[in-house]
Amino acid sequence: MCGIVGVVAERNVVPILLEGLRRLEYRGYDSAGVAVLDAAGKLGRVRSVGKVQTLADALDREPLVGPTGIAHTRWATHGEPSTRNAHPHVSADRIAIVHNGIIENHEALRGELTGLGYVFQSDTDTEVVVHRIHHHLGATRDLVAAVRKTVAELQGAFALAVIAEADPGCIVVARQGCPVVIGLGIGENFVASDVIALLPVTRRFQFLDEGEIAEVRRRSVTIRDAAGQVVHRAIRESELSADAVERGPYRHFMQKEIHEQPRAIAQTLEGRIAAHHLLEAAFGPGASAVLDRVRAVHFAACGTSYHAGLAACYLIEHYCRIPARIEYASEYRYRNPVVTPDTLFVAISQSGETADTLAALRIARQSGYLSTLTICNVPESSMVRESQLVMLTRAGTEIGVASTKAFTTQLTALGMLTIALAKHRRVPGFDEAARVGEIEHLPTLVEKTLALDPLIRQIAERFVDKHHALFLGRGALHAIAMEGALKLKEISYIHAEAYAAAELKHGPLALVDEDMPVVAVAPNNDLLEKLKSNLQEVRARGGELYVFADPAVDIESADGLRVIEMPVASSAMQAPVAFTVPLQLLAYHVAILKGTDVDQPRNLAKSVTVE
Ligand code: M6R
Repeated sequence: MCGIVGVVAERNVVPILLEGLRRLEYRGYDSAGVAVLDAAGKLGRVRSVGKVQTLADALDREPLVGPTGIAHTRWATHGEPSTRNAHPHVSADRIAIVHNGIIENHEALRGELTGLGYVFQSDTDTEVVVHRIHHHLGATRDLVAAVRKTVAELQGAFALAVIAEADPGCIVVARQGCPVVIGLGIGENFVASDVIALLPVTRRFQFLDEGEIAEVRRRSVTIRDAAGQVVHRAIRESELSADAVERGPYRHFMQKEIHEQPRAIAQTLEGRIAAHHLLEAAFGPGASAVLDRVRAVHFAACGTSYHAGLAACYLIEHYCRIPARIEYASEYRYRNPVVTPDTLFVAISQSGETADTLAALRIARQSGYLSTLTICNVPESSMVRESQLVMLTRAGTEIGVASTKAFTTQLTALGMLTIALAKHRRVPGFDEAARVGEIEHLPTLVEKTLALDPLIRQIAERFVDKHHALFLGRGALHAIAMEGALKLKEISYIHAEAYAAAELKHGPLALVDEDMPVVAVAPNNDLLEKLKSNLQEVRARGGELYVFADPAVDIESADGLRVIEMPVASSAMQAPVAFTVPLQLLAYHVAILKGTDVDQPRNLAKSVTVE
């Protein structure tokens, strides 16, 4: 999704802007641009389609130098990816703006501005904003006031950064629905859509809240609320290190993140379990009283995070004997959910900024839930700040667009939530020590599963020339099959679908032939015999089957059937995590063999901050 960087300094800001954009590349984008006010306060702009390196090359040919600047990576929503649609957008060559999000009333504003004589250069929704600021600046002569008047006219979700010849030592930023962070330096200050962009230059941050506008100058930062009142905002030190976004010895971030999973899961568990018990403090202060009362759970999430929640529904109903359901956050936000007494709302999100999940959380806060809990990987994110309870997954920065370690750490956190709920409900026969022992073992189990990497690389060769694939699982492992299919389509562009294995004969079996590889996940659980029958249905139709199976599963490789033996991971707490890993590796190796852009697959963004 779009990325914003801005710097106001004494030195030339262009190298800092470019480094910031490079660090935001992982979010997904199609074009990039920079606007700078030079030492004389004159505005210059360079934009290009494609990678940030293309922009850097353009800046070599056409240098910009100056102490105040803004930069942007654009992920097209309104108007094709092109240089003229790339940000920054300008008005009268004197004001420049970068924008994340969507201006919903842009057509009406465009009509009014055209009537006032403004000529549009792009197809974007953003351009109306810069012309409105120009229009208001004519009357107010004050950039902050002009931005405030403009923001009051906008509908939609946005983060904005604005510079103008009229006030060359200032960047004005505004937030409504999309994150904005201010980085504090010594004699220089920064703005960005994500702390990662600024880690090489500062670790001290202030976060804008909804409706706030900030005036960022070299030696001062003034934040005002929607009513124009100055607000005091605490400074937070980020614990992220600048090298959190380095690939190290790995070829891709996704590969690095897959292999980081044992450590990431161990970090998720650290300080939350001890001596085979879940610690009371695992869900933070105040959680205990809430957990005592929970009688039902509603999850909302998108994409991979949705799959984590779907798997958790099985766990919670199985161990805690209370109803649990999940919904896509994009659907949830437009329903009128029935909330029975003492229902806990849980938002799951790697980024904590996904627009639909954030909207669902905000609706949930007004809908009579017992409490809201966010399971998230980014401590400074909007969801973490707006939720009543929080469990951080501590996976470390995830850069690959295809989520891997964020997912398995979400499953780990949800395992702890299941244990906490069962414990607080005093479910008869629930064996806390045994369940904690199982999740404690996850890092080792994942380490062992990663040893399948060379074997899976060979299997991947069988998928390269295929156009479709099916993934099968049962129970919570259906959610894992869905995640495996999502991984394959995201990064290898092979069309893949997942089914609860018994559903196959109700339609999709018609698709099965020698060109349709079928991948199944087969832990040794009480659904195993059922799953085996479902697999026979595939074999009987000549389908090529790849079964990731527990060692105790009595299936042997044969013609058209490849069994890949997994480490023992039969418990309901372990199987979802362990069986995810080979599916991640399969998607990764197929993508490598196909030569796709693994970390930044086409059309996708890391954090989807628009609806
Ligand atoms: O940051 P979130 O977990 O809220 O993101 C939700 C989805 O956009 C995300 O999981 C997406 O599906 C990933 N590309 C999956 O690999």
